[in-house]
Amino acid sequence: MLKSKTQLLSVEHKEDLDVALQILLKGGLVSVPTETVYGLAANAKSAAAVKSIFAAKGRPASHPLIVHIAGADQLIKWAIDIPPVAYVLAERFWPGPLTLLLNKAPEVPSEVTGGKSSIGLRVPSHPALLQLLKRGNIGVAAPSANPYKRLSPTSAQQVFAELQGKIDAVLDGGPCEVGLESTILDLTAGQMCILREGPITAQQIAELTGCSVTVPSQHDIAVPGNVAEHYQPRTPLFIGTRAQILARLSEAESTVACVFYANTAELPVNAYIRCLPEAKPAYAQALYDTLYKLDHLKVSAILIEQPPQGAQWGDVNDRLRRAALPF
Ligand code: TXA
Ligand code: MG
Repeated sequence: MLKSKTQLLSVEHKEDLDVALQILLKGGLVSVPTETVYGLAANAKSAAAVKSIFAAKGRPASHPLIVHIAGADQLIKWAIDIPPVAYVLAERFWPGPLTLLLNKAPEVPSEVTGGKSSIGLRVPSHPALLQLLKRGNIGVAAPSANPYKRLSPTSAQQVFAELQGKIDAVLDGGPCEVGLESTILDLTAGQMCILREGPITAQQIAELTGCSVTVPSQHDIAVPGNVAEHYQPRTPLFIGTRAQILARLSEAESTVACVFYANTAELPVNAYIRCLPEAKPAYAQALYDTLYKLDHLKVSAILIEQPPQGAQWGDVNDRLRRAALPF
């Protein structure tokens, strides 16, 4: 569906929230803020609306979408055979960046789940989106609001630049607080399994539930839509040590951009150099935004310094592994 004009709405204006809700209820597409990344939302009970998400993103229809709901009390509308551990996790981590995979309720359109028998569900914590879900008494299917295979957007301006003309509206809710996509936890098998690492770690889930959690290293091929070449800027991205980057920088003939971790001492001063914060939450929040902006500088490559690799950094390293080539 080609939309001619995309409205830019703001969560600051009550009437804009009303407009966003009306568009969703009528089967249109609205990019909505979440705490992780901006989503491209459609009423999840409307097969036609959900189909138009795939058209706007240029994404294959076999890729399942996450349904965003207002609270754990809504789970029974979307899933069946819900194990008690789902409620334990919901109580602790919702609203928040944890997506639970459960067995899909038969009445959910198969377009939402790419024909799969499972469904991804989460309660987002952005107050404006929660308000829309509650007021409309709806669930919205929403993938990240990026064109297929590109970086997930963490600001309304980024969504607007990439998708204007293809969607009805973008609801500006400010920069995303978390900045990386949610953890996806599969609860449909006997053993809990993380399909995509995210802000909620396997350790946090295991500690809370007392059950073990697997994080398969090859999970990127397990699910359509979770493939290696996602999460990339257009510019080639390379990851290495600071010494490798500085050596490459001294040889480079064409302009390259660099992203360093923490300590800025003794770094060259240059318009194409960025430093990301030392603390993991602040690093994650800035990562996509930084890559997105550098991507628009028309440099020949972006060189990124390897950040720490401890358990807390699992999601950052997962995304960098998919996006970057080693030196
Ligand atoms: O933080 C997030 O999760 C963001 C915000 C908007 O909520 N959403 C997001 O959606 O990242 P998307 O579509 O870009 O990524 C969702 C991932 C895909 O890799 C998809 O394959 C997987 O979730 N997924 C969704 N439903 C699934 C299912 N039923 N079975 C297996 N994987 C599923
Ligand atoms: Mg995505």
